[in-house]
Amino acid sequence: MLNQRIKIKALLQQASIGTHVTVMGWVRTFRNNQFIALNDGSTNYNLQVVVALGMLPEATLKRITTGASLKVQGTIAESLGKGQSIELLATAIDILGDSDPEKYPLQPKKHSLEFLREIAHLRFRTNTFGAVFRIRHSLAFAVHQFFNERGFLYLHTPIITASDAEGAGEMFRVTTLPFDGTPRNEDGTVNFKEDFFGKSTNLTVSGQLEGELGAMAFSEIYTFGPTFRAENSNTTRHLAEFWMIEPEMAFYDLEDNMNLAEAFIQYLIRYVMAHNSDDLQLLDRRLAEEEKQKPANERSELGLLDKLNFVVNNQFERITYTEAIQILLESPAYKKKKFKYEVSWGIDMQSEHERYLVEKHFKKPVIVTGYPAAIKAFYMRMNDVCEPGKETVAAMDILAPGIGEIVGGSQREERLDVLQKRMEAMHIPVEEMSWYIDTRRFGTVPHAGFGLGFERMVQFVTGMTNIRDVIPFARTPKNCSF
Ligand code: 4AD
Ligand code: MG
Repeated sequence: MLNQRIKIKALLQQASIGTHVTVMGWVRTFRNNQFIALNDGSTNYNLQVVVALGMLPEATLKRITTGASLKVQGTIAESLGKGQSIELLATAIDILGDSDPEKYPLQPKKHSLEFLREIAHLRFRTNTFGAVFRIRHSLAFAVHQFFNERGFLYLHTPIITASDAEGAGEMFRVTTLPFDGTPRNEDGTVNFKEDFFGKSTNLTVSGQLEGELGAMAFSEIYTFGPTFRAENSNTTRHLAEFWMIEPEMAFYDLEDNMNLAEAFIQYLIRYVMAHNSDDLQLLDRRLAEEEKQKPANERSELGLLDKLNFVVNNQFERITYTEAIQILLESPAYKKKKFKYEVSWGIDMQSEHERYLVEKHFKKPVIVTGYPAAIKAFYMRMNDVCEPGKETVAAMDILAPGIGEIVGGSQREERLDVLQKRMEAMHIPVEEMSWYIDTRRFGTVPHAGFGLGFERMVQFVTGMTNIRDVIPFARTPKNCSF
């Protein structure tokens, strides 16, 4: 049996001096033919393994190189060296796998994030990415814990669907039809009856619509799964494949929805602060270094840990879309023509506008409600009309410093007639969506929900500026490696 080892995290936390243990991991560095820094991914700390002089033949010593994998048996001793309190005095070392130092791309030095992105299959072995992905794991775990504690049911919504939940047409097609000799109807259009599902299908952009069906029986559900968007956005905040958490709650109005979303985000941050403090400290130092490279006026005022502390200890700002536009119009940035995109009631706010609101004006997360109906999805609840031409919906977006939109949600239109009219007006195929409309026919209730972009949340907590660095293998336009 191989698995009688102790993980390095457990060893550093609890092993007592004099005990004999087995550890396994990968070599980070090997100094003076004597000191091995060994890492097994359980923590960002390395275990110092001490090789007694003369213990190993020269040929074996040569094979202890950065990236090589080892099985080490030895005795735990107090460390005399700086930087660690205990170390492992090796009694036996087996090399499990060699790593040619001429070819191994990860050297014990600082590599750029861009370079590491090209070797994403190896970047887990660096301090930065070790920390990022341990935190990503913790966040995923905390998502389930948060909802489980509150009696929400985890509903698995389908990945392949025949509908466009957001009505934005940014879908990846799923088909088994051949490119050559595609079956056609008489009018020349593709005959999807011949396709695998007998209709046109795509990868889901959101689990919300099916989530609503669940909420109409279980009261409170959430989904947490991959979603896909074929939007050609090459930004630091967009992925073609990303993970989304979508709770959907019966008997909730917009305010209940905002309260839940705010509590959820704060809970996730608190969880990571309590369970990943070593990793957070490492990323806090990394970000401070990165900030130092920027011109003074572009640096953020708070470090990573300060920012997270601030967010869990302060309420989010809540404003209406109309107020947001007013603030932008009165801003020095607008007056000095600093915005690239226009500002007026009715615009879909651009990231420069969102960032102004959260980073310059409020300096904290902001929940914006009451967006113009014309720029939001068909399922959002219509507000009472206050001014013709200025119809709004009970939408809410949460904007976070450094990220922009992190949550999108709304109270849903539960009134059958209003929903049907809006779907028709927005050219949503009412017939095909009759399963969705049925929820409004049979026991409709006020309900609400939201979607949290998981990678944007990981970005927020880790301080990583590029979304490609918080998902193991990013899918973006013209890029699908690994
Ligand atoms: O605002 P969105 O499009 O809302 C929905 O999909 C709703 N169905 C959610 C709901 O009410 N159940 O997306 C929700 C969130 C965004 O706020 C953002 O955080 C994230 O998903 N998101 C993306 N993250 C990474 N890459 C992309 N291309 C994203 N598009 C949206
Ligand atoms: Mg949105």
